[in-house]
Amino acid sequence: MSMEIRHVAVIGGGTMGAGIAAACAAAGRDVVVLETTEDLAEKARARVLGLAGDDERAEVEAHLTVGTLDHDLPLVGDCDWICEAVVEDLDVKRAVLSRIDGARRDGSIVSTNTSGIPLAALVEGAGERLRADTVVPHFFNPVRVMRLLELVGSDDTDPEAIETLRRFLHDDLHKGVVDAKDTPNFIGNRIGCGFILSGMHAAVRHRAAGLAVDEIDALLGAPVGLPPTGLFGLVDLIGLDVMDLIARNLTATLPADDVGRATARLPEAERRMLERGQIGRKAGGGYYRLVRTADGGKAKEVYDPEAGTWSPARRFAVAPSLDGLADRFFADDATGDLLRDLLGETLLHAADLVPEIADEIVAVDRAMRWGFAWAAGPFELLDRIGPHRLIAHLRRSGRPVPHMLSVLEAAGGETFYRDERQLHPDGRWVDVPPE
Ligand code: NAI
Repeated sequence: MSMEIRHVAVIGGGTMGAGIAAACAAAGRDVVVLETTEDLAEKARARVLGLAGDDERAEVEAHLTVGTLDHDLPLVGDCDWICEAVVEDLDVKRAVLSRIDGARRDGSIVSTNTSGIPLAALVEGAGERLRADTVVPHFFNPVRVMRLLELVGSDDTDPEAIETLRRFLHDDLHKGVVDAKDTPNFIGNRIGCGFILSGMHAAVRHRAAGLAVDEIDALLGAPVGLPPTGLFGLVDLIGLDVMDLIARNLTATLPADDVGRATARLPEAERRMLERGQIGRKAGGGYYRLVRTADGGKAKEVYDPEAGTWSPARRFAVAPSLDGLADRFFADDATGDLLRDLLGETLLHAADLVPEIADEIVAVDRAMRWGFAWAAGPFELLDRIGPHRLIAHLRRSGRPVPHMLSVLEAAGGETFYRDERQLHPDGRWVDVPPE
């Protein structure tokens, strides 16, 4: 009989730690949040209570204790799950994990809420007990809203620790749990950030060919099942400063042969925008900005990164849904070129990343739907585009066929999904686990 998670400790009560603590307390678990100072601990308490709904606040307050690592670390000894959510710094995280390990009891589960540092690196050199009991449950922000949770173990992780945490996260925190492998940035951030960075580079060519920023966004939103922000609107939301950091991290962590390496930096025009602080919504504008009009209203303007000028943002008549995606994707026109370059390259990359980042294609599709608000995941989009048409297109262009497309071809199938089953990397169609 495996363990139940009743008592939880969260180390670091910032954005993510507070969200995790609030979710656990609202699910009726006793939660202790430890910070570096008493002042920060009280701030963490306020943050956790602020994340509780009106009808949950009394319950969350009753279950919540805050303290400092220096005074209250022994409280960890009563906990079944100790969740580290401190800053994204390998050395800081390693030091915190080692302190946790000295204070916890046998059989407790430890986790680290990294955005993408491999678990193997975090527990490298740690004792056998810590390596066996440590899992990465990769939550997405905001924790209480986002359904996606990527669950990652290393070669050393005890499968029972993973299963116990999986049950709790699914049954009690109501997360959509996806199994990811211990690779840099896991699934969603690897594909999602790759899409943004490679898209920004490819878009430079399409802008030179006459497509404007707002036009590209209109084509890359709902018509291909991506969020309505499109590409540049999404970068405005995230911030060019954060994208620059992500790119730097990718340069440090991506495998040497990953195609994402070539675009793991900002293009020249975007670098100039970053240098003068034109980084997105939080700085008053990036690719878009809102300006006051003479009559006191607001108007949206769009930036031309090459010319350095602003003009009124336009509305475009675009396909409202995924219907007819294949025809638009293969069209011999500017739209087809754009879709093949910006969306197509990401889909080909995803098809090459299985089984490296996940054992099942459905894990990749769910990660992109639940974590990045795609209406359909990469393999679901490939099925709509037509895998064999795409393979023929690649061959005509003298390009290699990505791994999972080759598996599909060898298995003699038309699509990755058929009759509620999915193509497994070993070439068989297997059941899709229930959502
Ligand atoms: P944050 O900066 O909001 O919070 C970090 C908290 O940790 C702060 O309250 C800080 O006082 C505390 N802290 C720092 N060093 C500490 C130490 N040695 N001991 C105890 N507490 C310490 O950061 P955020 O955004 O909550 O991120 C936490 C982790 O979650 C990072 O690894 C981040 O990469 C990851 N993450 C963040 C996401 C996001 O969108 N913010 C999404 C998914 C993961």
